[in-house]
Amino acid sequence: MVKHSSLGTGPQASSARASGSGRATVVLTAMVAALGGLLFGFDTSVISGAMLFLRADFHLSDVQLEFAVAIALAGALVGSASAGYCTDRWGRRWMLLLTALGFGLFSVLSALAVGLVSFSVARFFVGACIGVASLTVPLYIAEMAPAPIRGALVSLNQLAITVGIGVAYFVDYAFAASESWRWMFASAVFPAIVLLIGMIFLSESPRWLARKGFRDRALENFRRLGRGDEAEAELAEVESALQEEQEGFGILLQPGFRVAVLVGIGLAIFQQITGINTIIYYSPAILRMSGYPSAKAAILASAIIGVANVLITVVSMALVDRLGRRILLLLSTAGMAVALTLIGVAFYQKAGSIVVFYEVIAYVVSFGIGLGPVMWLLISEIYPTKIRGKAMSLATLTVWGTNWVVTASFLSLIRAAGPAGTFWVYACLCLVAFIFCYVLVPETKGRTLEAIEHHWRHFGEKPSTLGQ
Ligand code: BGC
Repeated sequence: MVKHSSLGTGPQASSARASGSGRATVVLTAMVAALGGLLFGFDTSVISGAMLFLRADFHLSDVQLEFAVAIALAGALVGSASAGYCTDRWGRRWMLLLTALGFGLFSVLSALAVGLVSFSVARFFVGACIGVASLTVPLYIAEMAPAPIRGALVSLNQLAITVGIGVAYFVDYAFAASESWRWMFASAVFPAIVLLIGMIFLSESPRWLARKGFRDRALENFRRLGRGDEAEAELAEVESALQEEQEGFGILLQPGFRVAVLVGIGLAIFQQITGINTIIYYSPAILRMSGYPSAKAAILASAIIGVANVLITVVSMALVDRLGRRILLLLSTAGMAVALTLIGVAFYQKAGSIVVFYEVIAYVVSFGIGLGPVMWLLISEIYPTKIRGKAMSLATLTVWGTNWVVTASFLSLIRAAGPAGTFWVYACLCLVAFIFCYVLVPETKGRTLEAIEHHWRHFGEKPSTLGQ
């Protein structure tokens, strides 16, 4: 087991506190950037309510409809694979500006599509923006945030994703009666415009600026973000870490960083392979299978599940900087394992739809308290500044790849193993996730990004800089 004995050597959180107005600036910055998360959630979900109308208008076969739905995931894979390089090269702020533009433009083009081809091209680029946003938003927030509140601020991204998913259901519902699927897609233009305008006023990440040698601007931005007298010290800490870093992926082959890469990729796999998106994308179908009397009742129940997802994320934000990342992850994976086992039992014993409904809520709540937000948080914290973007690309790419595999195989798995067997498979994977988190995930609460980096650099030497 990786030992992370309590505090030891290494840089400590020098940026302890932000002044009042500085703190307001940080929070506002995180809130604006999190609109990228809202668009991520909205654009992955909006298709579910639009697809029936799309099929009718464009006369799509089953295979064509599947393609039209899945094309955004393909875009997300490409977007997340390239975003890391781009954000390391051109900066976090420019990438978010570009993403906002892309979301706006391609949402309108999806809405104006005249057939399968034009629709798929537009949705592919919307997907690419989702991929870029999924990486850049947590990274940008993590680099701006003071260590003591970084967990809550980065988790605003997850909160925004869950709100985006909820808003998409609402928008689908609102436009369903008039069959206006074009408005469903076009609605994304509003948050995209707010993100674009907001990003024009926000400043670049001081860590990225320091890495590019813009010392004065980095210092100014740390000050603007409320670091006050501690700005110099925080910048010095960043610069000293940068001096030790080498460019390129070579750094990831050092023993400690190899483990960091493994942790990032492992968390990404477990966040998806434990089945969350089977619930997010298919909950009305799952509830119908469990015996819900009508599609309408099942859709309403799904909306309640969506609200639970939003609320629990707020609770997680309140806890993540107090209790730490590890405890939330362990609680989360254990809770998910229990809930999934019980869902399987309920299907096996035909216990009825209400039982399944409560157990699904328990599952989503368990996910939302830990594995949901904390995966995005940890992958924005555990890599060195020089290659943070590129290393995050690996983890984010893994999220989208695994998402694809799980959602594409879900219905076949149900056919092959039945609902009970399917949920038990996910339950077993939660147990593996629990062990993985227990053994490998370090505690990063309250540490600067440089202190976390120091931990990996001196990984295996004692005493370690992070607690477990
Ligand atoms: C995951 C998404 C999921 C969402 C649900 C995110 O953290 O990455 O795949 O749909 O949580 O809340």
